[in-house]
Amino acid sequence: MHQQESLQLTQTVIERLADTQDPRFKVLMTVLITKLHEFIREVDLTPDEWMAAIEFLTKTGQTCTEKRQEFILLSDTLGASMQVVMAAQARASATPVVAAAATEATVQGPYYWAGAPQREMGSNIAQDVAGEPAYYAGRVTDPQGNPMSGVVLDVWSGDGEGVYDMQVEGQTEMLARARFVTDADGRYAFWSIRPSYYPIPMDGPVGVMIKKIGQHPNRPGHIHFKLSAPGYVDITTHLFVANSPYIDSDVVFGVRDSLIVDFHYQNPGAAPDGREMATPYWCAEFDFCLAPART
Ligand code: BEZ
Ligand code: FE
Repeated sequence: MHQQESLQLTQTVIERLADTQDPRFKVLMTVLITKLHEFIREVDLTPDEWMAAIEFLTKTGQTCTEKRQEFILLSDTLGASMQVVMAAQARASATPVVAAAATEATVQGPYYWAGAPQREMGSNIAQDVAGEPAYYAGRVTDPQGNPMSGVVLDVWSGDGEGVYDMQVEGQTEMLARARFVTDADGRYAFWSIRPSYYPIPMDGPVGVMIKKIGQHPNRPGHIHFKLSAPGYVDITTHLFVANSPYIDSDVVFGVRDSLIVDFHYQNPGAAPDGREMATPYWCAEFDFCLAPART
């Protein structure tokens, strides 16, 4: 009897959407209501549990500031952000074959800072940043392998200990961030540091959830890239440091095998760009591929 009344209630709530003008909104709301009601039935949710969920979401909202987006962190740690990223990339590319050739996308994360300065090819973007030097180089091509010149690469990472400039109290200048534009051969090259693994912010409700799950809070070492070129699908992605701790258990599910890169250890001496290195350093090479946008 209860089951029948419960299903009837679901139906009644959905019927309230009958006059909704926006068809997409109607689909989203219908499925959301259906799944939410199904969830409540399936787990036999108690009033205390529902109130705990409401309090959790309330705290999540209250933890958000201009610099802190706890809801995105929640989405990231539930794997929802990656689901949306993967679906968006599949949808945006012209054909599945072309999409398969494109560099895979991953989460943007909370530490993107728009407006990084454009730097000369080969610059060191981590001059005053703790960490072991690393030389990054490669090409950007289209799916046929043709070099793409004029592609903008927006690059950012934390320091060698996994700390982003935005996380440092009073740090108003950008660190380890820059934009580069590929040359006539589609090449890019720059110096930064070899990024370290780091924990996501754990002092809010998402941290409480992660601890309760029994999951570690870490992301493997990675450097972020946004690539854009007119007529092509923009990509927000990372390169991950092969063999980094947590490479198999990223707390936000962002790792894709195709983005794992070997960082090769180099002894002091002449670097690939001719720079004389007095200390050991690392080399990371990666070629990006952009897919044409649907027209
Ligand atoms: C990041 O890579 O910067 C990041 C992504 C998701 C959550 C927290 C940090
Ligand atoms: Fe990051």
